[in-house]
Amino acid sequence: MNFKLSLSLIILCANMASFAQIQQKPISQRVDSVLLLMTLEEKIGQLNQYNDDWTATGPVTVDSDKAKQISNGQVGSLLNCLGAERTRSWQEKAMQSRMKIPLLFGQDVIHGYKTTFPIPLAEACSWDMDAIKLSAQVAANEASAGGIHWTFAPMVDIARDPRWGRVMEGAGEDPYLGSLIAKARVQGFQDEKLGGINSVMACAKHFAAYGAAIGGRDYNSVDMSDRLLWETYLPPFKAAVDAGVATFMNSFNDINGVPATGNTYLQRDILKGKWGFTGFVVSDWGSVGEMINHGNVKNRYEAALCAITAGCDMDMESRCYKNNLTQLVNDNKVPLALIDDAVRRILQKKFELGLFDDPYRFCNAEREQEALNNPEHAKIARKVAAKSIVLLKNENQLLPVSKNTKTIAFIGPLVKALKQNKGFWDIEVPGVDSNFIVSQWEGVQNCVSAATKLLYAKGCDIEGDNKDGFAEAVSVAKQADVIILSIGEKRDMSGEARSRSKIGIPGVQEDLFKELLATGKPIVVLINAGRPLVFNFIAGHANAILYTWWLGSEAGNAIADVLFGDYNPSAKLAITFPRSVGQIPIYYSHFNTGRPATGDANHHQNSSYLDESIFPEYAFGYGLSYTSFVYSDLKLSSAKIKSNETLEVSVTIKNTGKYDGEEIVQLYLRDKVGSIARPTKELKDFSKIALKAGESKTIKFAIDKEKLSFYNQKLEWAAEPGDFDLMIGASSDDIRLKDTFELLN
Ligand code: GLC
Repeated sequence: MNFKLSLSLIILCANMASFAQIQQKPISQRVDSVLLLMTLEEKIGQLNQYNDDWTATGPVTVDSDKAKQISNGQVGSLLNCLGAERTRSWQEKAMQSRMKIPLLFGQDVIHGYKTTFPIPLAEACSWDMDAIKLSAQVAANEASAGGIHWTFAPMVDIARDPRWGRVMEGAGEDPYLGSLIAKARVQGFQDEKLGGINSVMACAKHFAAYGAAIGGRDYNSVDMSDRLLWETYLPPFKAAVDAGVATFMNSFNDINGVPATGNTYLQRDILKGKWGFTGFVVSDWGSVGEMINHGNVKNRYEAALCAITAGCDMDMESRCYKNNLTQLVNDNKVPLALIDDAVRRILQKKFELGLFDDPYRFCNAEREQEALNNPEHAKIARKVAAKSIVLLKNENQLLPVSKNTKTIAFIGPLVKALKQNKGFWDIEVPGVDSNFIVSQWEGVQNCVSAATKLLYAKGCDIEGDNKDGFAEAVSVAKQADVIILSIGEKRDMSGEARSRSKIGIPGVQEDLFKELLATGKPIVVLINAGRPLVFNFIAGHANAILYTWWLGSEAGNAIADVLFGDYNPSAKLAITFPRSVGQIPIYYSHFNTGRPATGDANHHQNSSYLDESIFPEYAFGYGLSYTSFVYSDLKLSSAKIKSNETLEVSVTIKNTGKYDGEEIVQLYLRDKVGSIARPTKELKDFSKIALKAGESKTIKFAIDKEKLSFYNQKLEWAAEPGDFDLMIGASSDDIRLKDTFELLN
């Protein structure tokens, strides 16, 4: 063997050995060794995220030399870049750079990648953490096969204003339920530890309080006390940190005049300081540069200074970092240590994902096809969707409808819709058409007997005042034994930048309902929406109502499973449904006030309205079943507990109906007297139990000091001695059993 060849072999072996040794080193050391070799420009490149050309989820800036910037190491991440092939091509460009640092590919995988799951607010109504986690796992499996490393989810913004379009994207109004869901989604996306081929980095967003935008108008200001921030809006973010979330995204809004993107209190004091978060923070689309619009900075130079100083590590799409950080460092405005900390956080995740060992490990076209065509995913989506449907009304047990019904009239603008079922934040995976979506028509057709005559009429459009289709709808209805009417919003009437000042059912759909009602036929109404809608007339006159949200690609099958009784609906509302927009904000965990509202408008001693009830149309925690449940035998282990003791609570639930079913048993507490007024009830635990017809189960809860604590005057998390009401309910407005106990000093 000649000398040259043997020398190169020796070097190769030495390199292999050192490579293997390097791979064994702790990631933090590997990060430091890379950082040491990087120029300032390469470091700033890692803080720079661009949109790919697939689609845009914000105002786009077109760079003619994007490919060159990537091959020069001036870009650290791309978003909206889909597919094993496309991500591979961009990764190859990044591998041409001097440092060969792999790109991160981020995507809004909010409720599924190809297989689309119910919108997050619908899934939240399942109160089923296993189902919610499984949904995120399937999404991660498909997305990672499609080259995605990082999803900009879960959105954990508490929302109490259904005018806000993004209420569809979160987990509703309650911090306790929202925190459990945040944890389930982070664990579903990331698995126990990052680095698995089927998991992706999660991203807790939008930090923070984005859901409290004034007037329910997206991107609007938020004005909030620290107490409300800590007590209501921060808990799901803390739950995400405790679940090991890899990244955070800050929010477009200002909080009390300080934009979240430039908010040191949020990002450094709370997130990276008090909570010890070691991942990285990405801005929301362009939000670094938008601080100029906010009026907090004069120009992009100041915007970059403000954001990097406040703890925003990566700049999505604004280019403020790319174009100003070098100058800021040279001007001694930004210490290099700040840049290094941000770069370190980002490199750490790229190492944890295994991208330095194999930049193409998620770019496998074969695996992509396998994952995107896995039949198990549709079955899971169908089950999760059925669990997300809320039964709001069922007069005289009209539901479930018999599969052998002679004639069914299936009417409405959403009956044969396909893509509408996907809701907002769906993903159009390249090369995949929409035929895999099961329409409501198809789902019902799949379910009824061959003898059943299924009649159809659209009746009207979702929007507009055209009633030409009413006559046909009425004529079809008159031939039927039962009418199923599917109405609602358009899927893009909720979601980002989709706030509505009125939240009724659009167009002439309610008029269509009235025409069909006049036929005297029994009528089941399916309401499809991304938010709570106001539909008081339908609520008062329909025989049965299912809130079907936007259920995703298996919508038709899931709706049919519930309509015809193959699944007994078990979901309960994760958000309050107002009777009118005038009641907003309306939520269950309100204070008692000095003149508690009694609902009697004539009694001027309370905070009732003169012209509207103070009560919602449907309360938080409300949802019916085809069966019924009786609650009994509430037992507390003691009438008094010390702060270091745990109160054991047990209650028996019996399924007294003829269908097997699941019940979400809710435990609420009221701290009767506190240094800060406490809500009249707060969800502190729940249990979703399955009971066969006639079966009873005794369930147990444990109440410890944590569940009795709140933020006191000094914003310290503490429990105060005194009396507590303990309530067990089927809904926040349907308390079945009550007791009291005392917390001793
Ligand atoms: C959007 C959204 C954010 C999303 C990001 C990237 O404007 O506010 O939730 O993750 O841009 O698409």
